[in-house]
Amino acid sequence: MEHAKIKHFINTQDWSQQELKDMLVLAGELKKKPWQNSLQGKSIALLFLNPSMRTRTSFELGMQQLGGVAIVLQPGKDAWGIEFNPGAVMDGDAEEHIAEVAGVLSRYCDMIGLRCFPEFKDWDTDRNDPVIKALAQYSSVPVVNMETIVHPCQELALMQTLYERIGEVQNKKFVLTWTWHPRPLNTAVANSAALIATKFGMDVTLLCPEPAYILDSQFMDEAEKNALEHGGSFQVSHNIESAYVGADVVYAKSWGALPYYGKPEDEWELRKNYRHFIVNEEKMALTNNAIFSHCLPLRRNIKATDAVMDAPYCAAIDEAENRLHAQKAMLLTLFKQN
Ligand code: CP
Repeated sequence: MEHAKIKHFINTQDWSQQELKDMLVLAGELKKKPWQNSLQGKSIALLFLNPSMRTRTSFELGMQQLGGVAIVLQPGKDAWGIEFNPGAVMDGDAEEHIAEVAGVLSRYCDMIGLRCFPEFKDWDTDRNDPVIKALAQYSSVPVVNMETIVHPCQELALMQTLYERIGEVQNKKFVLTWTWHPRPLNTAVANSAALIATKFGMDVTLLCPEPAYILDSQFMDEAEKNALEHGGSFQVSHNIESAYVGADVVYAKSWGALPYYGKPEDEWELRKNYRHFIVNEEKMALTNNAIFSHCLPLRRNIKATDAVMDAPYCAAIDEAENRLHAQKAMLLTLFKQN
């Protein structure tokens, strides 16, 4: 059964710029006064199909600070494995279907959060974000995306951090740079950074080594649409120097080349050539005294040097802290809207 009227937090594209800005204002207030009772008696189930440090801690602590309860479940580890495909003949490892999991958790809890990275097998399937869509289909309470093929909670924390560090962001130059990493990672944070920076009217440059690293067309198209609508711009560059010149923000992330999705050995033949995409002091010196950030976790001296991570312009820890405040604001907003 589909519950069409529920407002979820699955993708920031479902929310207006003003609604997101209002969340950030509320996040700023919550940062000053973290302990409140606004969610007393409320609960959220947090389903983690992948590891987490920041997301888990900030959601659990955030609910406690608001007087609510968070229950963490790791299906396949401390809870039954879940089948997400509709109509599946369940003769594999999964003991129960998302239809029952969502139905039961909706009776116990007021919201359900899900972290489920793509499977890295078939991008044509994963690009539709089928797992969180199945959860939303069967849930009768709001669903929160804790990272699938986008990471909307990270987007809020990033924007809160940018407002704190540089004030108004309209038409500031935001460089989203691909970085070296030994294996192909999820595109979620890169997709999300492109979406939110364009949604807030920034002049966004997606810097990546070659066309194979351009993001999925659905996110490229939405970023372009956002830029048009909000007075910013969106371009792709493969030139490190010109991309860094004049940047106000350098945001780093590594991700896999989509044409090689599910074929890491083939992708390696490209990837091995691009170790020089590390963020270092020489590149940061080309910028307009930019702030640097990353969603974390980050491999030091692989994605960014120690000097960059330890510099005063590095806002990665601020951004991680702001996950707590921004998510609390998002949860309060979701409770109000449902
Ligand atoms: N940035 C982020 O989501 O961190 P975790 O993977 O530790 O939750």
